[in-house]
Amino acid sequence: MHVKEAIEKRRSIRKFEEKQVSDEIIREIIDSARRAPSGCNVQPTRYIIIKDKKTKEKLKKKGVFRQDFVYESPIIVVLCGNPKEYENFKEVKYQQEEGTLPKDLTEVKKVLRGIEEERANRDISIASSFFVLRATELGLGTCYIGLINRDVLKEELNIPKDWFVPFVIIMGYPSENPQQRPRKDLNELILK
Ligand SMILES: Cc1cc2nc3c(=O)[nH]c(=O)nc-3n(C[C@H](O)[C@H](O)[C@H](O)COP(=O)(O)O)c2cc1C
Repeated sequence: MHVKEAIEKRRSIRKFEEKQVSDEIIREIIDSARRAPSGCNVQPTRYIIIKDKKTKEKLKKKGVFRQDFVYESPIIVVLCGNPKEYENFKEVKYQQEEGTLPKDLTEVKKVLRGIEEERANRDISIASSFFVLRATELGLGTCYIGLINRDVLKEELNIPKDWFVPFVIIMGYPSENPQQRPRKDLNELILK
């Protein structure tokens, strides 16, 4: 499948077959997501894969998600990251060697200081696009879920309080085939 095809085929899928997704396929998808670009190559995205009923039931009891289909999906993937990872700049060493960033990072750090959470949000989101497109190519359905009680989710999954969790992605083999949802016209989007 070409990228264009995957982009055009992807839909938010909220109904899934019972069929389980193998660990091999999940790793394959995350392998694609980890190839996504990230600011200063920090690669902040971490994945927590929830497959077992017990954990889903525990989350349901605590009201983490407000939509029942989330608990019924075969897999819930929590995408998260530690904003503090942006503070040490160790991943830019190769860029300094390439000459695409200055050796002295004082000015760079000034610009980037204080927006670590925003950067984590952005970079996790970019990785997630790679994730859902690769999943689509492999015949899987996905749906982003941002309607989350984050504090409770973090508590239940032992995710540190200061980590960022923009959304989870539910995933499985689709048992629905929705039409393309409405999209704005190109002319409305291109401002100049
Ligand atoms: C960041 C993000 C958060 C979302 N959160 C939810 C959610 O909590 N519940 C839900 O049912 N759909 C959620 N969606 C799915 C959107 O409703 C969906 O992408 C949109 O309606 C367009 O439909 P499509 O994905 O099929 O093109 C979310 C999508 C994104 C990108």
